[in-house]
Amino acid sequence: MKTACVVLAAGLGKRMNSDLPKVLHRICGIPLLQSVLNSVDGVKPDRIVVVAGDHIGKIKENIDSPGVLFAVQPGAKGTGDAVRCALPVIGDFRGDVLILNGDTPLVRPETIKKFLRRHRKDGNELSVLSFKAADPSGYGRIVRDASGEIEAIVEDRDADPVRKRISEVNSGLYAVRRDALALVGEIKLNRSKGEYYLTDLVSQALLKKMKTSAYPVGAEEEFMGVNTREELRRASDILRRRIIAGWTKKGVDFMDAGSVFIHYNVSLGRDTVIYPNVYIEGRTRLGRNSTVYPNVRILDSNIGREVVIKDSTLIENATVGDRASVGPFAHIRPGSQIGREAKVGNFVELKKTVLGAKSKASHLSYLGDAEIGNGVNIGAGTITCNYDGKEKHVTRIGDGVFVGSDSQLVAPVRVGKGAYVGAGSTITQDVPAGALAISRSRQKNIWGWVRKRSKTGTKNTKKKGKE
Ligand code: UD1
Ligand code: CA
Repeated sequence: MKTACVVLAAGLGKRMNSDLPKVLHRICGIPLLQSVLNSVDGVKPDRIVVVAGDHIGKIKENIDSPGVLFAVQPGAKGTGDAVRCALPVIGDFRGDVLILNGDTPLVRPETIKKFLRRHRKDGNELSVLSFKAADPSGYGRIVRDASGEIEAIVEDRDADPVRKRISEVNSGLYAVRRDALALVGEIKLNRSKGEYYLTDLVSQALLKKMKTSAYPVGAEEEFMGVNTREELRRASDILRRRIIAGWTKKGVDFMDAGSVFIHYNVSLGRDTVIYPNVYIEGRTRLGRNSTVYPNVRILDSNIGREVVIKDSTLIENATVGDRASVGPFAHIRPGSQIGREAKVGNFVELKKTVLGAKSKASHLSYLGDAEIGNGVNIGAGTITCNYDGKEKHVTRIGDGVFVGSDSQLVAPVRVGKGAYVGAGSTITQDVPAGALAISRSRQKNIWGWVRKRSKTGTKNTKKKGKE
């Protein structure tokens, strides 16, 4: 028995007031549509078809689901029309077609599996996943007959006051036998909205005496449709809590779960501790036993084990080795690699820089386009001058080098293994291994200068006073 999935994503999403297609709005770091696509993985569909409209190019660019097929629906003429447009791409086979809305991002994979099992066990031609809504407004109502069998789905705008009170509503998730799906061609235009409603498939199927049921499986919060920004925020919050609860179960401690954001594709190691107001985004991986102190944002980075990220640090597209320490107030920019047991301290910025194992840049430095070896000490205030106004150049610093405080390394330049750079130097030429380089001018002491100056100083003041 084969299974195909169709995800409807061609709607205009007018209620979002946005230039972005609705299904590309993000929830915990991934597009709404991606979340729906991920949720069907569990039923191992043989084919997934996304129905898209004018924004198809943008949608293809932003979806990371290899093998997904696309169908185009010209002009958003309703959910029924969307499925009709998908028919040629769905193809002919013996089995079931699962239909899902692209704006319902919270459905759990287990719920979809359970629903499909019920549909198959009961030998239905059409099944609708329903749920009891605390506030049913906006949803299609499930109308049942005296014996409790589904009779029709009536959209909110078409429902009379009695039907408006029905709390069982349509989730927008259906299972249809492939051969029964041809019925979408029979759906009539709904005059009140000028659209073809997929929900009319129910009455069409019943007319043809097809076996049809509505199953209330799953929890209400799973079926929340995102039509407005307000709903997007509410759905984001539900997913955010779900993600944090998931990691808590796997052994991560959150000091204040209410203020922490962990994106969908993040992975966290056990015994890691996350302090308040932390954002871990994109595809970040954080190893075991690490600590992330308050006000930190980490994006698309690979952080090792037993790492300490101190307060108010930003790390983007970087790697941090085991037992390293970063921050407070550090900025680790894309392409940076911090080695094992290395230390990056306060007010240090790294850009596309490799800092070797056990190396230290503890205070107030800019290290850009630098290749720094192991066991190097970068003194306070060191700056790599990597930009000549036109191009970027590389600074290479060998293992065991000691760079004295307040030095500038004018790239391209190389400091050989074990060399020393005297504090306050401006290094413009390569330093050989084992050498000491000092480029500051020699100090001169002028004896009694202060006393002399204070005498002349007094005269000057008197003069000024007379003027
Ligand atoms: C729909 C259902 C409603 C259900 C609710 C659940 C219909 C007529 N109504 O209402 O019964 O309770 O979902 O959330 O189906 N889309 C297209 N092409 C179109 C129109 C829509 O692909 O021409 C897509 C949208 O991108 C969206 C999905 O279909 O992902 C649902 O469309 P939407 O307009 O949000 O339907 P609702 O009014 O929420
Ligand atoms: Ca919707």
